[in-house]
Amino acid sequence: MRLPRGSQLVVASHNEGKVREIKALLGPHGIVPLSAGSLGLPEPEETAKTFAGNAELKARASAQGSGHAALADDSGLCVEALGGDPGIYSARWAGETKDFSIAMTRIESELKAKGLTTSAAKFVCALSLALPSGEIQTFEGEVHGTLTFPPRGDHGFGYDPIFIADGMDQTFAEIDPAQKHAMSHRARAFEKLLHSGIFVESL
Ligand code: IMP
Repeated sequence: MRLPRGSQLVVASHNEGKVREIKALLGPHGIVPLSAGSLGLPEPEETAKTFAGNAELKARASAQGSGHAALADDSGLCVEALGGDPGIYSARWAGETKDFSIAMTRIESELKAKGLTTSAAKFVCALSLALPSGEIQTFEGEVHGTLTFPPRGDHGFGYDPIFIADGMDQTFAEIDPAQKHAMSHRARAFEKLLHSGIFVESL
C-alpha cells in the first residue's frame, strides 16, 4: 500500500477532537485530509469487540463510501482496576449527549465502590488505513499512566482531564497539546504507520 504526497485521505471520524489530532499528525507528510462529516459519510455502528476490529470497520466503510483512501481511529481508555473498562465502550460511557464529565464520574464511582481512589490505566489507539480496493492495514499504540480525580485542565478531549501519563505530573488536558501529540497512543500508532512506508514522496 502506497500513498504519495498530495493524496487525499478521508479521516473517518465524526469526533472533532480526534479529527483535529489526526490532521495535525498528517500535515507534515503532504497528505490532504478530508473529513467524513463534510463528505456526508454515515458513521457505521461499532459492532466489533476490539479496537482494531472497530477501526477496520470504520476505515472500510469510509473508503468504500467515498472512493478515497480512508484512515479510521478506534481508541479508548482501559482502567486496570475496572478490568479494562470502559475500553471499546469509552465513547458510549459518555451517553447520547457525549458528556465526558458523566463518563469520568462513572469511573470515579466504580473505583470508589472497590475502595479505590485511583488506578493504573492506559489509552489505546488502533489506526486503520483502507483503500477502496479493500486493501487494509492496522497499527496500534498505547500510552500508560494513572488516573486522578477531580478532572483537571481544559485542553484535549474525552478522558484527558483524568489521565496522567507515566513520568508526568500534569494531566493530558493540562499539558500543551503539542506535548500530548508527541507521546499519545495516537502518536505511537501513527509512528508505526509511518515506519511501514505507506506515505511516499511519489509513486
Ligand atoms: P471511539 O473510538 O470513537 O469509539 O471513541 C473513543 C473514545 O475514547 C473517545 O470518545 C474518547 O472518549 C476516548 N479517547 C480516545 N482517545 C482519547 C484521547 O486522546 N484523550 C481522551 N480520550 C480519548
